[in-house]
Amino acid sequence: MLPLLRSQLSTKLLTRNTLPTNLRRLSTTSPNMVKVLAVLYKGGKAAEEEPRLLGTLENSLGIADWLKKEGHELVVTDDKEGPNSVFQKELADAEILITTPFHPGYLTADLIQKAKNLKLCVTAGVGSDHIDLNAANEKKITVAEVSGSNVVSVAEHVVMSILLLVRNFVPAHEQILADDWNVAEIARNAFDLEGKVVGTVGCGRIGYRVLERLQGFNCKELLWFDYTDLPEDKKKSNFKRVDKLEDLVAQCDVVTINCPLHEKTKGLFNDELISKMKKGSWLVNTARGAIADRAAVKRALESGHLNGYAGDVWDVQPSPKDHPWRHAFNTLGGGNGMVPHYSGTTLDAQIRYANGTKDIIQRYLSGQEQEHANVIVTDGDYASKAYGQREKKATGQKPAGP
Ligand code: NAI
Repeated sequence: MLPLLRSQLSTKLLTRNTLPTNLRRLSTTSPNMVKVLAVLYKGGKAAEEEPRLLGTLENSLGIADWLKKEGHELVVTDDKEGPNSVFQKELADAEILITTPFHPGYLTADLIQKAKNLKLCVTAGVGSDHIDLNAANEKKITVAEVSGSNVVSVAEHVVMSILLLVRNFVPAHEQILADDWNVAEIARNAFDLEGKVVGTVGCGRIGYRVLERLQGFNCKELLWFDYTDLPEDKKKSNFKRVDKLEDLVAQCDVVTINCPLHEKTKGLFNDELISKMKKGSWLVNTARGAIADRAAVKRALESGHLNGYAGDVWDVQPSPKDHPWRHAFNTLGGGNGMVPHYSGTTLDAQIRYANGTKDIIQRYLSGQEQEHANVIVTDGDYASKAYGQREKKATGQKPAGP
């Protein structure tokens, strides 16, 4: 049962200016206060100049004043790694944890054991794989995300990434920056998207929107693979379901990954699966870095089996400087469309997931039921069907389709 409304309490701002810049604390002394811990990335000058950068430590999802007014404590930090990090220390008595996939506070089973008061984890965005969901279930912690908040943002990024790989855009742009001009060097590996076969692994909110957006490009086929069927009213005659993942990747010129990271998708695109992809095909991954094996992707690019790899997600974030994907190229020195994790954090998306985060916390504090579509795990079980097929029937109603 969710807790009842906490009374409104007076708050005070504690020594924010004397705290290190990677930690903000707003607190109250009331025994009824709820401690909220948020792990957000530091925005620095950009966050000062652009208040719509809500996902930053400085702008704190726009909820700091509201929580203060409600009488609760908010601790915001970007310091998230290691036992001495603010994240791990403050987690010990936090009741609500806010994290984002962009600067993930990795909530391991070990940390969940130590988080004695933790009841609710809110993912400000979509994708809660940085939380050990099985461990959360053991302690009956609810994990909720702001479903749908950035799915258009990502779908647009996927279409852009497909185009930049297929059309060989990045090396062409680099020529301009290098004051160079060599059309043949670019055109030798530039193609049209028209007439190509494109397939999505996962046809939920994002995968479906990618296919929708590709309809205008006259692709030869638009394929999808997912263990969940589309709702009848979302099925389209030009979207073709493929029953086996291996069959999908073997047919595609472009594969786009749009499923969550869970036990069954971790390392899914390994040497074996990539070897089943068409030679010279392109792979776009804006889902989660760890769905693709970092070494296998680099090998496939260098051997020419893959013509390009693009995306914004990395198996560790921030990505280390020596991550192989930073400098992984095809045999012609191109085919790298990697960027930092930002596809789902456009300014348009930030307002949606900031509002959604507030709504989830507000519902929790007032004992209201959560939107079903937002709940990933609760009461010791998976409420979402998207995080892998499980024997126990998921209780919630998160639809696979858009
Ligand atoms: P969704 O829950 O609407 O759809 C996910 C779909 O994947 C579901 O239909 C599910 O059945 C399917 N699926 C799960 N495991 C699968 C498997 N092994 N094979 C095939 N399909 C499988 O989720 P949505 O909103 O489409 O997001 C998908 C993922 O995209 C998120 O979980 C997240 O990891 C990632 N994402 C990335 C963002 C970014 O900024 N790069 C932003 C938002 C989401």
